Amino acid sequence: MPAKVVSLINLKGGVAKTTTTVQLAECLASQFSKNVLVIDLDPQTNATIALIGEEKWDELDRKKQTVFQMFKDKIDKTAYFQVQQAIQKGVSNLNLNTLSLLPSSIKLIDIQDRLHEIPLNTSYKIAPMEVLKHYIKPYLNNYDYVLIDCPPNLGNITQNGIEISDYFLIPTIPDKLSTYGVPQIIKSIYTFARERHLNIKCLGLIITKYQKTSTRHNNVKDYELPTRFKESFRRLSLDPAPIFNTFIPQANQITDAMDFEMELGTFKQKYGYGDLNKYVIEMTREFIQYAG
Ligand SMILES: Nc1ncnc2c1ncn2[C@@H]1O[C@H](COP(=O)(O)OP(=O)(O)OP(=O)(O)O)[C@@H](O)[C@H]1O
Ligand SMILES: [Mg+2]
Repeated sequence: MPAKVVSLINLKGGVAKTTTTVQLAECLASQFSKNVLVIDLDPQTNATIALIGEEKWDELDRKKQTVFQMFKDKIDKTAYFQVQQAIQKGVSNLNLNTLSLLPSSIKLIDIQDRLHEIPLNTSYKIAPMEVLKHYIKPYLNNYDYVLIDCPPNLGNITQNGIEISDYFLIPTIPDKLSTYGVPQIIKSIYTFARERHLNIKCLGLIITKYQKTSTRHNNVKDYELPTRFKESFRRLSLDPAPIFNTFIPQANQITDAMDFEMELGTFKQKYGYGDLNKYVIEMTREFIQYAG
């Protein structure tokens, strides 16, 4: 079976794109026995630090084995980056041997505005959004799922994720400002896909950091968001994608779970006994149902 490749995208920062990527990856690997690759395309490097910690990241960064070097090689006509060396196997503090990571680097900030130089410096005129595809395509089918954590914009780096994705998934907090840009994301990605002849589709929308006692969250979750989301697809003459029935509640333990240094044994210890880990498992079950 070919890998299902999913980019997690929202223009808004802080809506739990990275947290959701890591949760899905760890849950798919540990609870559903799936082979998973996380690709961190965000210069903030949060998914990388959550999955391998700072020390390992620093070592890989010095060895030039991060996505920063992947882009830089194509700008500078160098060849330091080796994708097989860069992909880290058996990552996460849950020691999941079926979970791998292609790490990012904060240095990506320094070159993110120089990606337009790539076609000028590559013999086959690789487009700025084709670099990741160029390196990773032969390895994608080693995995059941590839999850791509994208920065909060639709620039060239995010486009590298879109270019190889079967789906995009939108995590959002159910408040006005976080959901405001959702129709724009959907429109922009489908427009980009048409221009580039891509088959990417919206997998759905996941509500994150939900506060059940907040009237505003409940109004947005139950009325405004479903209407706005459906309308976005109607305008493009497309069938609407689902809003996940499972939502992820606001909880300190979820923030704590992103700390690689925490000594943890099991998925339940990491994501909370009782109901909390069940939300993550149910979200992942729905993810598998929609992505196939
Ligand atoms: N369910 C939750 N409950 C409480 N805090 C959460 C939850 N999900 C995420 N957070 C916290 O919210 C903050 C933002 O989350 P995260 O980094 O995943 O968002 P992001 O969309 O990836 O942000 P950015 O756009 O900066 O990449 C983090 O401090 C994270 O720990
Ligand atoms: Mg993030």
